[in-house]
Amino acid sequence: MAFTIRLMGKEDLPQVNAIDHEAFPTLWPPPNYQRELKNGLAHYIVACDDEIEYEPPEPPKDTTQGLSWLPARLKLLFNNSKPANSKAPPQARDYIYGFTGLWLMAGEAHITNIAVREKYRRQGIGELLLISLIDLAIELGATLVTLEVRASNTDAQRLYAKYGFIEVGLRRGYYTDNREDGVLMTIEDVTSAPAQAKIRQLRQTHARRWKMPAPAIAP
Ligand SMILES: CC(C)(COP(=O)(O)OP(=O)(O)OC[C@H]1O[C@@H](n2cnc3c(N)ncnc32)[C@H](O)[C@@H]1OP(=O)(O)O)[C@@H](O)C(=O)NCCC(=O)NCCS
Repeated sequence: MAFTIRLMGKEDLPQVNAIDHEAFPTLWPPPNYQRELKNGLAHYIVACDDEIEYEPPEPPKDTTQGLSWLPARLKLLFNNSKPANSKAPPQARDYIYGFTGLWLMAGEAHITNIAVREKYRRQGIGELLLISLIDLAIELGATLVTLEVRASNTDAQRLYAKYGFIEVGLRRGYYTDNREDGVLMTIEDVTSAPAQAKIRQLRQTHARRWKMPAPAIAP
């Protein structure tokens, strides 16, 4: 399966909303992703079909920086390399496989959500999204990476633990639909040598296992 990781664009919103609804059916309506695209603190990426031609997404509305300051390797990762005259994606086809995003605040990258279309799960896409999001967090200057996950969501917890997130607390009744507790997980310093070594090794293993080129990354 060939796909690209790139910044979420407004043309992706119908499919992102559908994936959100499938992944989080009890939390409806979904977050307002349209508003998120205009939020300078929010950064979202998608895993999408490589074969689909689409309009390049608008750069995020970060009034101070835009994308121009990102290093070339990250631009390569997040910008599609399709010709400028490419077409908008056909809406009938599921060309987005998954998405994830973060909010960046004072050196903390808070992962807001991650979801993969059900029929494409267990194929390494969630992991690639997480690797790419961690890369993005670092490029944006974060050291602390945090998230909340439902106490019952052991699949996602396994994914996070694999990448070095550790449980640091419990938010009682955090989820509004069923008052389930949220487990707070963090990577304290994602730029530290041990964290980087772990992620580098996981990235290589992932690339070998899924025969996907390792995403562009810091050395
Ligand atoms: C969590 C989610 C994004 C994982 O995506 P995915 O593409 O299936 O994950 P991957 O195939 O990349 O798996 C990566 C790792 O995640 C963990 N994992 C994911 N699904 C798992 C499952 N069903 N059982 C056990 N571990 C699982 C494993 O550690 C796995 O590594 P491994 O293959 O070496 O065991 C996906 O299950 C999903 O969209 N769930 C619904 C939304 C959700 O719960 N999001 C989390 C909100 S906090």
